[in-house]
Amino acid sequence: MTWQQRLARLITDVTVRVPWLWPLLRRPMATMFDRIAAQWDEVTGPERMVAFEAALARVPGEPRRALDLGTGTGDGAVAIARRWSAAEVLGIDVSPGMVEEARRKAPELRFEVGDASRVEAADGSFDLVVMNNVIPFFDELGRIVAPGGHLLIAFSRGAETPIYVRPGPLRRGLVRAGFEIVEEVGAGPGTAVVARRARSH
Ligand SMILES: C[S@@+](CC[C@H](N)C(=O)[O-])C[C@H]1O[C@@H](n2cnc3c(N)ncnc32)[C@H](O)[C@@H]1O
Repeated sequence: MTWQQRLARLITDVTVRVPWLWPLLRRPMATMFDRIAAQWDEVTGPERMVAFEAALARVPGEPRRALDLGTGTGDGAVAIARRWSAAEVLGIDVSPGMVEEARRKAPELRFEVGDASRVEAADGSFDLVVMNNVIPFFDELGRIVAPGGHLLIAFSRGAETPIYVRPGPLRRGLVRAGFEIVEEVGAGPGTAVVARRARSH
């Protein structure tokens, strides 16, 4: 791993264990991704979307309001729009540089600068939230996913992904936040889970 990837892993491990430290770590994370935004699609290989796309194919139903959290250059949002053309899709990222790239790539979609730890949206706003290689904030995910809605969390290189959460803490975090795991997906070098928010929690 490069030093940036090690830093991303360190920030991930600390944030998953002690989420209230995130406000101190947000700036270094955003700065790191701002610096790499213009090269992101080139430096990350085509395998980046393999597990994500495989898991997306397992999401049941037709989501109407979907959110790609930590959208980067927008590929998750684009994949959702391609699969469900009627869906209203929003991509959010903490890095303004990434949001600029996403808007350039997919001007027909909506992208905003924002933080996955405090999404500016009412409770239950989305019936699908996706995250590809992004730190999950479980309580916030439990708040914004509508009862009966779905959550997809993918790591494109499995345990080798710099931003990665091990299966144990991932499952525990999801269950605590009111999700049940409906699919565990392995595709190419990546892993993903599809979870459903309980109707009452
Ligand atoms: C490894 S990149 C993945 C980007 C994209 N999902 C992909 O697969 O290409 C992680 C992205 O999450 C963003 N990010 C990290 N923490 C975030 C947070 N708390 N809220 C929103 N975006 C965040 C970073 O700025 C970066 O664009």
